[in-house]
Amino acid sequence: HIFRMSLILNGKELASIISAEIAQQTAVLATKPRLAIILVGNNLASEIYIRNKISCAKSLNIETQLIRLPSTATKNNILEIIKSLNEDPTINGIIVQAPLPNKNFQESVFEAIDPQKDVDGFTPANIGRLCNGNRNCLVACTPLGIWKLLSYYNISLSGKHVVILGRSRIVGRPLSILLSQKFEGCNATVTVCNSQTKHLAEIAQSGDILISAIGNPKFVTKNMIKDGAVVVDVGINRIPDNTCPKGYRLSGDVDFEHVQEICSAITPVPGGVGPMTIAMLMHNTLQAFELQNKRPLTK
Ligand code: GUN
Repeated sequence: HIFRMSLILNGKELASIISAEIAQQTAVLATKPRLAIILVGNNLASEIYIRNKISCAKSLNIETQLIRLPSTATKNNILEIIKSLNEDPTINGIIVQAPLPNKNFQESVFEAIDPQKDVDGFTPANIGRLCNGNRNCLVACTPLGIWKLLSYYNISLSGKHVVILGRSRIVGRPLSILLSQKFEGCNATVTVCNSQTKHLAEIAQSGDILISAIGNPKFVTKNMIKDGAVVVDVGINRIPDNTCPKGYRLSGDVDFEHVQEICSAITPVPGGVGPMTIAMLMHNTLQAFELQNKRPLTK
């Protein structure tokens, strides 16, 4: 093997560049874009994500409205709130933070959001349009953020074999659709692996670009990486660690220390995909605002 230092794909840096652009656009608006966030129950990780989303929005002149519901909230409770937010002209974007305590009605809850306010890109209308190659849709934040990050570093996708670990509705599935689309900067050949995939390590090793979104710390090891591949780590896993002030440290899905010896570029955790997801939520909120105000879509 050739030992090389890999390029670190700095999502934090790109997120702050994009944020500055958004802040410039929102600064001149008479009414500010407004994002409603529904948080059901008290999932610890969700609390932190929401806190980050709210503070980022604030710094970009985007107003937020946090609606907290107890974990006992019924499907109808949540649907009623979504209905009133859909009808409220002062609300431009709506997100329901996943996971919901009750997985049984997660789908119907996502489906109830007005597609024009669906800044997570989770509704059938938006996902369906993406599938059909219709660009007039809101694209899920993490997939869009990964695409923007690769494109910022001039990592071309056309004709490349992209291997995605994980088929989640939030990351793996929409990402596979986006990257394989016949869009400029896409046109990748995509393989989506799941927990039943046979010969996963071999498939992973055939990827020019390997993207892991499974939530399993250090699952991706050096032997699963093609020499010179680009590695994107979507995992945010907490590892108990008493030497850290918080009692835990964050680890991605990738064994970063060893994998970086063989890949050409890699996203760190934290500071890689995570900040991009939040920046894209702000981007989508501004896009939804423009859509509702019948102004041309920004790119
Ligand atoms: N949970 C983890 N990621 C996301 C996301 O992008 N959107 C929502 N709504 N929930 C999430």
